[in-house]
Amino acid sequence: MMRRALELASCGISQVSPSPLVGCVIVSEAGEVVGEGCYIYDKVSHAETIALAQANGKAKGGTAYVSLEPHAHYGRTKPCTEALINAEIKRVVAPIEDPNPLVSGKGFQALRENGIEVVTGILAEEAEKQNEKFIHWHKMKRPFVHLKMAISLDGRIATRTGDSRWITGEESRKKSHELRHEYDAILVGANTAVIDNPSLTDRSGKPRRRLLERVVLDNSLRISLNSQLVLTAKEIPTIIFTENKNNEKIEDLETEGVKVIQIAEGARNLFGVLQELGKRELTSVLVEGGTEIAGAFYDAKLINKFSFFIAPIVIGGRDAPTAIGGKGATVLANAMRLRNVEIKQNGEDLEVTGYPLLVVNGER
Ligand SMILES: NC(=O)c1ccc[n+]([C@@H]2O[C@H](COP(=O)([O-])OP(=O)(O)OC[C@H]3O[C@@H](n4cnc5c(N)ncnc54)[C@H](OP(=O)(O)O)[C@@H]3O)[C@@H](O)[C@H]2O)c1
Repeated sequence: MMRRALELASCGISQVSPSPLVGCVIVSEAGEVVGEGCYIYDKVSHAETIALAQANGKAKGGTAYVSLEPHAHYGRTKPCTEALINAEIKRVVAPIEDPNPLVSGKGFQALRENGIEVVTGILAEEAEKQNEKFIHWHKMKRPFVHLKMAISLDGRIATRTGDSRWITGEESRKKSHELRHEYDAILVGANTAVIDNPSLTDRSGKPRRRLLERVVLDNSLRISLNSQLVLTAKEIPTIIFTENKNNEKIEDLETEGVKVIQIAEGARNLFGVLQELGKRELTSVLVEGGTEIAGAFYDAKLINKFSFFIAPIVIGGRDAPTAIGGKGATVLANAMRLRNVEIKQNGEDLEVTGYPLLVVNGER
């Protein structure tokens, strides 16, 4: 039942941020599934209330399986704990606490105080993974960072002349759009914006609540006013972080709809960049390179998840850029080792995803 609740929750991907994904299954006292619900931000109703409405009175004495702790406060809706209590549910099974300080632990407490049995921990790892972006954003006050690079077998992201399109095959590129679909923002460096002139849009074809926000780190404001990013900035949110004080260029960019943000130390201050994005309720960011940007995030230990799409080609060449620049590890013992590694095949390419074991300020 918890697996089903998690499956239901996933129907909200890209449609709930900055709220969490939540699914709910109601099982009657007789053991029959009588209600199911999935949270979608714009539909307002929470998964529990949708499932209880479907149960239509048959929830009494039954069990609610919810993929995240039900909330006990008044927000856009009445507390879900109240709905569960009023429906005379006997038991609530929810794997993890909601990290939102307004909810955290209080939902479980309200249920217990009303005589409802609360069971936690079932499929907790899966539930945490499903809401990894939301949990990270709440805990760290900055977005979850996923670095994605398309590389050759020998770790290059372009040839020595800068030719980089396309390293991976069609299936991988389709998967990349599905990955973009799961994120609130996408970020690249100034060189990638200038050389590749990308549009950085979500072309998965799936519905999203907010457009994918595009972010460029460009201290010298090198981006062209005729670039695809600038030309579409009135329709698609586009942010440039810079330390440049060229008021004329800033004015031109802003006239085209670009939001230019200056922070202390400019775009080199990645922590400041992420904090700024976090304040804008962007819970997650997909970093798509290039080498220098990937290296800067690596050195700052700000990458929460890596994906390498590896094509069976060998580029070679001392001057062909590798995936991750910056300083890198001094000794192998300091190299980032990934855990929970998943390997998939997209056509002839491999997709390797994993989480670095990060310890920053004592937080994992
Ligand atoms: N295969 C792939 O997955 C992939 C993905 C993306 C790009 N690429 C390729 O990568 C190449 C570009 O990579 P690149 O390494 O030359 O450039 P990049 O990483 O795209 O951009 C680097 C530039 O960004 C600016 N910047 C601003 N804030 C920064 C920060 N915090 N850290 C580092 N740089 C910052 C710097 O210029 P300022 O000092 O002027 O701000 C810097 O020179 C292109 O050939 C592109 O096609 C490949």
